[in-house]
Amino acid sequence: MGENLVLNMESKGYTVAVYNRTVEKVDNFVNGRGKGKNFIGARSLEELVASLERPRKVMMLVKAGKPVDDFIEKLIPLLEPGDIIIDGGNSHFPDTVRRTKYVESKGLLYIGTGVSGGEEGALKGPSMMPGGSPDAWPHVKKIFQDVAAKVDDGSPCCDWVGEDGAGHFVKMVHNGIEYGDMQIINEAYHLMKELLGMDAFEQHEVFKKWNTGLLDSYLIEITRDILAYKDEDGSPLVEKILDTAGQKGTGKWTAVTALDLGIPLTLIGESVFSRCLSAQKDLRVKASKILSGKEPAFKGDKQQFINDLEQAIYGAKIISYAQGYDLMMEAAKEYNWNLNYGGIALMWRGGCIIRSVFLGDIENAFRSNPNLENLLFDSFFKNAVESAQESWRRVCAAALENGIPVPALTSALCYFDGFRNGRLPANLLQAQRDYFGAHQYERTDKPRGEFFHTDWTGRGGSTASSTYQV
Ligand code: 6PG
Repeated sequence: MGENLVLNMESKGYTVAVYNRTVEKVDNFVNGRGKGKNFIGARSLEELVASLERPRKVMMLVKAGKPVDDFIEKLIPLLEPGDIIIDGGNSHFPDTVRRTKYVESKGLLYIGTGVSGGEEGALKGPSMMPGGSPDAWPHVKKIFQDVAAKVDDGSPCCDWVGEDGAGHFVKMVHNGIEYGDMQIINEAYHLMKELLGMDAFEQHEVFKKWNTGLLDSYLIEITRDILAYKDEDGSPLVEKILDTAGQKGTGKWTAVTALDLGIPLTLIGESVFSRCLSAQKDLRVKASKILSGKEPAFKGDKQQFINDLEQAIYGAKIISYAQGYDLMMEAAKEYNWNLNYGGIALMWRGGCIIRSVFLGDIENAFRSNPNLENLLFDSFFKNAVESAQESWRRVCAAALENGIPVPALTSALCYFDGFRNGRLPANLLQAQRDYFGAHQYERTDKPRGEFFHTDWTGRGGSTASSTYQV
């Protein structure tokens, strides 16, 4: 990733000094992929720092966690006031909040930037989401926007996100949404395979078509290609891959943050848990021999079901992004960030893993109403989700009836039905809490904020517990 990013910078006319703890790697790079190009191979951090123009800009691409703190400690004594330390890894945003304060207390500036797009993106143009010390931005803006991906009108997929951890926060939500998009696609694959009996090559054709319509996106495109990929014996390689998903933690952070902030981020949460369930391979294999259920048996028109599936994916995807934006709006309040929601959609439109045509519609929604409270209140998305729902319901019903797990598709639909419901059954829940714990409730016929307790059994008296919300 680091190698590709500096090659990208150099190709835009910058001279870049490069350093790695393993000096041999520096030599190999400067004499290999970097040969004849404007690179300075530094053999120590001192040498690296000495070769930079002031204010110095030192960008780290190291594993998230302690290695970032260790590097900062090594750099601080070598730098001078106004110099900038940049973390381009997938750091957890509370760490970036802490590091920004710490580095600023030493008279330096700090940037924590999300960089998305994998190795290829780093080389050809990633999506970049920088946050940190606002005074640092003017010094790096041109470099970042030069290397970032561009959308059709030439706008760069990179802009200032906000103070301290805002950039890494937005990258974390990007990754959470990435988990969600991948899970929805995996559920569609599972349904086509188990319910419709389609092999990978047949599914390839479906994804190929989907990639020219509503779902046009990088993840649909790579899925199309994966499904067509043949192993040496000519069979689809995907079917030989063990069904246990890995994860590096950014999806989990997104879900945990949503729980902390009280935001119903159900689709991403289900996507993280689905990876956890997939990882319990041995237990699942054992369970498959103990527990019996429904064997899939498809009734109906296959092509109609595939059309419904496209709408179901689209509907669930709209919910996932609505939930992701809800989380960003709440975090902006909690952490005092002034997030530009249309700008975030633009940053995600190109270069990154979740890039899609769909993000252009999100950008339009927030550009036409920067104070949009919820993506589903935008007329384009309201109409889109409403017209997807019949197909989406048919897909979920068929999956449930045939015993095929589709937690992302169904939880998104449940969220939609819950969100559009002005009266949920939480009145009963409040009564239950009051019954067993005297937790009190508000009444529909009294002003909000007035709390009541009922002695439900006649044995409880009138003492109520204090009311507080987590
Ligand atoms: C990106 C990716 C990148 C990385 C993820 C993978 O935006 O380029 O999101 O950050 O591939 O960390 O995450 P998991 O290993 O958790 O799937």
